Amino acid sequence: MPYYRVTGEIPRKRHVRFRRPDGGLYAEELMGEEGFTSDSSLLYHAHPPTAIVKSEGLDDAADVGVVPNHPLLPRHFRTQELPAGGDMVLGRQPLMANDDVRISFAAADAPSELYRNSTGDEAIYLRNGTARLESVYGSIYARAGDYVVVPRGTTHRWTPTAGEPVHALVIEARGHIRPPRRYLSAAGQFLEHAPYCERDLRGPEGPLAADGEDVPVIVRNRGGLTRLTYAYHPFDVVGWDGYLYPYAFNIADFEPIVKRTHAPPPVHQTFEGPSFVICSFCPRPLDFDPEAVPIPYNHHNVDSDEMMYYVAGDYSARTGSGVGLGSITLHPSGFTHGPQPGAAEAGP
Ligand SMILES: [Fe+2]
Repeated sequence: MPYYRVTGEIPRKRHVRFRRPDGGLYAEELMGEEGFTSDSSLLYHAHPPTAIVKSEGLDDAADVGVVPNHPLLPRHFRTQELPAGGDMVLGRQPLMANDDVRISFAAADAPSELYRNSTGDEAIYLRNGTARLESVYGSIYARAGDYVVVPRGTTHRWTPTAGEPVHALVIEARGHIRPPRRYLSAAGQFLEHAPYCERDLRGPEGPLAADGEDVPVIVRNRGGLTRLTYAYHPFDVVGWDGYLYPYAFNIADFEPIVKRTHAPPPVHQTFEGPSFVICSFCPRPLDFDPEAVPIPYNHHNVDSDEMMYYVAGDYSARTGSGVGLGSITLHPSGFTHGPQPGAAEAGP
């Protein structure tokens, strides 16, 4: 996704001889989804991207297992009380997971090693701080309010760039994370009713054309973590084109959709993944009919668990509940939930 981009130098046609200044051939690498039948990008490396000189298994400190939510209860996580430290990859503190998605928190104050997740796409939401994402495609400068979507298999690293930890929610899918299909035309263009569009997405600047030998990369696959050492730096890309690359979207660029009476979360949808969605509840005129009850109605999500991360402002349905900025609430399927008692009468 999201649309065609070209960065750096590429030849006129795919798969023709494209020579370095010293006369040797650049090495092509096709990053492609769904076995050559979906989005892809074609990258040009100074050296072969295939040469591995070492492979070592790593312990995964974040692999703490999963326990069921039993007895069934809603949950309140206070990420604001979790310790800071580590990096955006190995410093992840897992919060909840199922077969479709794993959600972690990071308060990163150190650069990560080179990393790629080969089990699925990642969406990282930065609540505060700034960071640079460097990848085979180039650099993205991320700031508070950014979602950064990193496609499966993208070799990258995170570096905090301010003197404070980067607080981030890390959403790891078991497949691809994309803009909702109902926002897109048949050819993939954002439609007029979508709450954001191509102009709001920031792709990588670059490429980096890095140099180096014997470069370690941490790889996550279904077996866990492996540190592969590559003969040449994976960021030795001089150009690429295609539809597959990491990108950033800042939530301040989300144009809320409103109704006179209360609208359900699909109007806030930002991305979709396999068997889950990501929504963003942004400042907006709230349920402005004189007779409207301007907070959510009680609801029973029979097919889904509902997790909310409170990142800024006030949330009218949670007044007096102890939920604060940095909190996460989990309302699992299996029972009905709604606003705090009295909130409907109190109004916004
Ligand atoms: Fe809910």
